[in-house]
Formats: sequence, C-alpha cells, structure tokens
Amino acid sequence: MATERTLIIVKPDGVQRGLVAEILGRFERRGLKLVGLKLVRIDRPLAERHYAVHAGKFFYDELVEYITSGPVVIGVLEGPKAIEVVRAMIGKTRPNEAASGTIRGDLAVEGLRNLIHGSDAPETAAEEISLYFSEAEVLDYSRSSEHWITGAP
Ligand code: RTP
Ligand code: MG
Repeated sequence: MATERTLIIVKPDGVQRGLVAEILGRFERRGLKLVGLKLVRIDRPLAERHYAVHAGKFFYDELVEYITSGPVVIGVLEGPKAIEVVRAMIGKTRPNEAASGTIRGDLAVEGLRNLIHGSDAPETAAEEISLYFSEAEVLDYSRSSEHWITGAP
C-alpha cells in the first residue's frame, strides 16, 4: 500500500483547550508516524495562502480570523494511505455532523471550531507541507529497525 505524507494542523481551539496530546496521540496510536512537528502562530498572509481555495466564500473572512487567532500545532504524518486515514479519523467538517469515534465527533460540537485540519488529496498535501516545513524539517527515519508499527499492540 502506498506510503503517503499528509499535513495536520491542531487549530487554535485545540491548542487553547489543551487537546494537542489527545489529538496527536490518536494518530500515533493508530500507527501513523510523526515526521514533522512545530508550534507556530499563522499570520494573515500565510492563512490566505493556505485557504486560497476558499477565497471569496461567505465563510472565508471568519475562517482566516479563526486560524490566525492563536498558536497552532502543525505536523506531518506518514503512513499507508495517510491522507485518507487521517481524513477519516478527523470526521465531517461540521462537528455536529461528525460521527462519534472521529476527532471532531468526539471532541467538538460548534460551527467553525472544528479543532483540526487534514490535507484532502496528494497534491494539496504536498503543497501544504511545503508551505509550513522546509525539506530539512521533515525527518526521514525508521521507527522500527525492521517493520512498520501498524497498529495497537
Ligand atoms: P479543513 O480544510 O480545515 O481540514 O476542513 P475541511 O476540509 O473539513 O473543510 P473545508 O471544506 O476545506 O473548509 C475549510 C474550513 O472552512 C470552514 N467552513 N465553514 N460555514 C461553512 O459552511 C463552512 N464550510 C467550511 C471550516 O472551518 C472548515 O474546516
Ligand atoms: Mg479542507
């Protein structure tokens, strides 16, 4: 199965609510490998680049306000079908519609405050990773000398 890399952002509400470890822990326990990680505050120009696809939509201004409102944790996760796996773990965009068992469905309920971003396709994943990480900041390492750790023990 194809190994992929995907970008996640624990949004300002996730950091503010103290849910960073809970959210990153879910990905780690699933068996995804953390190959990049940083705590940053996204400024307006960067937010506008990240959400360029939504420019002009009715929720765009509020979205840029939200993502720039406080520090975020940005990570790169690697693993088999990582993009799809992470999106499934995150759940539907509106937390009130997200299924229980997903991050949004378990930890959020309100409108735009949906805790976490995950890249939605290979092209956007590559673009988003390069927006936040230099090549040297995404580490290439083996977590096990011989095998992937693919699931819970
Ligand atoms: P994200 O990009 O943040 O991972 O979220 P997503 O793929 O589930 O949703 P997307 O369609 O890409 O929308 C990006 C963010 O914009 C806000 N949004 N609001 N009011 C609305 O109808 C609406 N639609 C989208 C959400 O904060 C969403 O995460
Ligand atoms: Mg999206």
